[in-house]
Amino acid sequence: MTAWKDDVRGDPVPCKESDWGKFEVTARDGCARIGRIHTAHGILETPALLPVINPNIRTIEPREMWDRYGIQGLITNSYIIWKHDDLKRHAVEKGVHDLINFPGVIMTDSGTFQSYVYGDVEVGVEEIVEFQRSIGVDIATMLDVFSRPDMSEEEVRQAVRTTIERCEASIEAAQGTMLNGPIQGGVYRDLRKQSAQGMGQFDFAVHPIGGIVPIMEKHRYKDLAKIMLATIGELPPERPRHMFGCGHPMLFSMLIALGADLFDSAAYALFARDDRLLSPQGTYRLKDLHAWPELVPCIVNWTPEAVRALNEDERTTLLARYNLEVTLAELSRCKQAVHEGTIWQLAEQRSHQHPALREAFLWLTTRPLPSGLSSDLLDDLVQDDRTAAREHHPNGGIWEQDWANVVNKQATQRKKGERWGGEDTLTRPHVLVARKQLQQRWRPSSTGSTDVLVLNGKPGPWRQRCDLLALRLRSVLPNLEILVQTPLGLLPYSLEDLNPFAQVDGPSWLWSRRLNTVLLRQELQRLHIEADRILILDISADSIIQHASNLLKKHGLLEDDLQVDDSDLTQLRDELRRRQVLDKLVVCLNVNYEYAATMIESCSYVIGGTGRVKNVIDKDGHHILSPRLTDGGLSITDLGSKIIHAQRSLPVEYDGQFQPKKAIGQGPPLLVVEQDAVEFVLKGRNVFHGFILACDPWLKAGQTCFIVDQEGTLIGHGLAQCDADEALRFKKGIAVRTRSDFSKTFK
Ligand code: GUN
Repeated sequence: MTAWKDDVRGDPVPCKESDWGKFEVTARDGCARIGRIHTAHGILETPALLPVINPNIRTIEPREMWDRYGIQGLITNSYIIWKHDDLKRHAVEKGVHDLINFPGVIMTDSGTFQSYVYGDVEVGVEEIVEFQRSIGVDIATMLDVFSRPDMSEEEVRQAVRTTIERCEASIEAAQGTMLNGPIQGGVYRDLRKQSAQGMGQFDFAVHPIGGIVPIMEKHRYKDLAKIMLATIGELPPERPRHMFGCGHPMLFSMLIALGADLFDSAAYALFARDDRLLSPQGTYRLKDLHAWPELVPCIVNWTPEAVRALNEDERTTLLARYNLEVTLAELSRCKQAVHEGTIWQLAEQRSHQHPALREAFLWLTTRPLPSGLSSDLLDDLVQDDRTAAREHHPNGGIWEQDWANVVNKQATQRKKGERWGGEDTLTRPHVLVARKQLQQRWRPSSTGSTDVLVLNGKPGPWRQRCDLLALRLRSVLPNLEILVQTPLGLLPYSLEDLNPFAQVDGPSWLWSRRLNTVLLRQELQRLHIEADRILILDISADSIIQHASNLLKKHGLLEDDLQVDDSDLTQLRDELRRRQVLDKLVVCLNVNYEYAATMIESCSYVIGGTGRVKNVIDKDGHHILSPRLTDGGLSITDLGSKIIHAQRSLPVEYDGQFQPKKAIGQGPPLLVVEQDAVEFVLKGRNVFHGFILACDPWLKAGQTCFIVDQEGTLIGHGLAQCDADEALRFKKGIAVRTRSDFSKTFK
């Protein structure tokens, strides 16, 4: 077997003492986050797997985990150390890092799991925390009460209560050592919530979700998803969430998508002892293998047959390495997906690997039908497992808000095309939130009932194909609303390049599916369009103007063919551009419709080579806005931000009674910073956590926000990196990536 001795990694650099215990988020995809936990033994990057080390049986040496696998943290059991005289003596004299021979972050568990397995433990609540502190662990765990899934609701309630009662003494005994505050509650939604709320009140550094091992062992993944959904939203967002005893790579993407930051597991070693191999596709048995499900470095020179021939010890070690490497590879895939904004897509793919995981995924993402729609009606459109899932496991009801919280964490626009993955595509949280934002903010140009023309049959860009048609229609039927039917729903023609609607990467037939009229009407209602006649124009054919003429004549909307005097086109084109910018101001930047209309009334445009608006120039010749090519969004200049900010009428307040409707039309959310930060923000520096005094409740990661001082004066604008509930709670990291430099613009 290969040795690792050649690659030796230096010891970690301790973090600044004032940062110990702080968690910072550096990238995110909705609830999924990439983060850094600061400790005395360096930074622990999340999501991370902490391999379980049994101090008595080391299948893979911890030092090798550090040196060869780059593992920054592991977990061991303080109760086992405490119970064994030799281990205890060594740990007390030389510290746990010396005992384990690991220079990185060491988390220890408290003996709760042993009490679950063996019935009881002899150690006291304060005693075990004091012991963990005394041996120098980085993250200790209090002695929680394990809630088993077979317990009655009353027994679980008692477990939750007793765990909360132990918090104060445990925190005191920790004397500043980072402490895990486990969440219990079994499979009871309310008890999980109670536990999370109760534990969240205390000064814990990390919140593990406990009591899930027996649930995972029985593949009850739907219950696991429910536990996550019930719990995560109740926890203080600035603390990492750890999945106690979860190390199967198949589960990582879904759990990370729901907000998990840390995993720990002995699975890599336990499965190896059983000749079982972990993989994101599920579990394999060595005896069944002809080839490796994943070709990882430790196995490249081996065949399954050769490994079967090894003696037990050698085989276990090699398979443990295999399991660890596969697990780390999946974690790395998840991290990349978070950076790319595709963690839900990965969860969607993984959900097909196990029927119970698919059930969990469908339970999460399947919504009840809107009132007035029967599932028969949908059958011709959605003939997949969702129809059944909807009938057999209707989500909604008490879970509706929990799921809405997950969805609302997503940024709407992204810079990449939306890869079609079947009907699951429609329930990706960022697609849902993009639809919601469009439907809440956009409004048609005329009130009252109107005729509607839906363009169908071809993927974008529609500009070259349809602009002339749109212009001619505008001149003869100014009130006709033109929309495009995209695979993600109806899109107003003025927003024809908006991501994700306009950038779906999939087969061309996706664009020609006919929506049934009831669904179409419902979509239009959501866009506040009271439709009189709905005409559908297939734009896949040539000579669409002729087709449109025929269609409109057939329905009595036109008498003659569509024609327009070319001399009118320049003005009409200008109007179309105005409408495009107006709608982007309203939808992407939440600007009040009337204000946006006056704002752009006297603007002129710089047109790019492809005929698109490149820059918007105000009446004084200043560049104020630029539509973005990448995502169909709108960038604002420093001057533009001043003009938009001037419309703001609502004071910054967060009274807990916030009605999202109040925010509509109020422009980008405001973030108020401390006086100390003002001079830096004015010079274009980022806003850091710890310097924020208040913010609007609709502040959202990935969206434009305005930065103001305590008097409400605008001092900059940028891209928020956090949501409102996180802005004041995080103590480390960037809260806003500033895009302005007022010190240069307004010298
Ligand atoms: N290990 C696995 N599950 C648990 C749990 O619920 N609590 C603790 N402390 N450790 C665990």
